[in-house]
Amino acid sequence: MKVIERIADLRAALAGRDRAALVPTMGNLHAGHLSLVRIAAAQGTPVVASIFVNRLQFGPDEDFARYPRTIERDLAMLAQSGCDIVFTPREADLYPEPQACFVQPRAALADGLEGRFRPGFFVGVCTVVLKLINAVQPRSAVFGKKDYQQLLVVRDMVAQLSLPVEILAAETIRGSEGLALSSRNAYLGDTERREAPRLHAALRDIDTAARAGTRDWAALERRAEAGLAAHGWQVDYVGIRRRDNLGEPRDGIPLVALAAATLGSTRLIDNLEIADQPR
Ligand code: PAJ
Repeated sequence: MKVIERIADLRAALAGRDRAALVPTMGNLHAGHLSLVRIAAAQGTPVVASIFVNRLQFGPDEDFARYPRTIERDLAMLAQSGCDIVFTPREADLYPEPQACFVQPRAALADGLEGRFRPGFFVGVCTVVLKLINAVQPRSAVFGKKDYQQLLVVRDMVAQLSLPVEILAAETIRGSEGLALSSRNAYLGDTERREAPRLHAALRDIDTAARAGTRDWAALERRAEAGLAAHGWQVDYVGIRRRDNLGEPRDGIPLVALAAATLGSTRLIDNLEIADQPR
């Protein structure tokens, strides 16, 4: 496995080979990230994982400075997971001058949910993902459903900008009691760690109600928000939306429930594709 910082060196390492499968990450890797690497490896093309904590997608009051950076451990994990090249650009490699051109994602996808609470987040994500795609020129790129809105925003960017890359979606990997693995789980104290699975449980309750035939989505959202708030969470949103475009739910169209809430000082997100049909 090669570790490469500069775009020119990356292009040289990839020259003459099949177009790669790209796994963009911000590092502090866990089994969720590695599942993406395995999907990339299964494409039968070279696997490039990138590790870059992208300042552009963090708000001024967010955790850019304290975001966990564990490069040696990350490299050891990637070396055992079928990764061929790790692209670890420094800020000066990806942003040699202050960024002045940005990707503006479709408002209908990017302005609600995460976009409402993290203004500029998806502009930062799309801009760096486009740069990474341009650096690697991959055949495919793998994104996790853990960040469901990000996956849809990136897919839409790729379609709208005619990028010749196939976006592959990976299922969410969960730990004990259903808590979605996340680099930010490292911020949780012991008591918070025991409470954190309630976010997933709240989404499961929505799924259970949908299976039982409930169709009052607004009431389910309010109930989930109230249940979390009663246990000390500061809830940004619980939203039940169409899976295809995050629009308002309609009967007969597959739905996903998405949530973001803060426990202590740690903001967590999760989502669950909810049952198509009552049972
Ligand atoms: P990061 O949070 O490091 O996540 C990298 C990729 O891993 C994303 O596609 C994310 O959805 C996926 N992922 C995270 N946790 C997962 C889990 N428990 N199960 C499955 N997949 C999981 O998302 C980002 O970085 C950044 O926004 C990035 C796309 C790299 C742009 O900077």
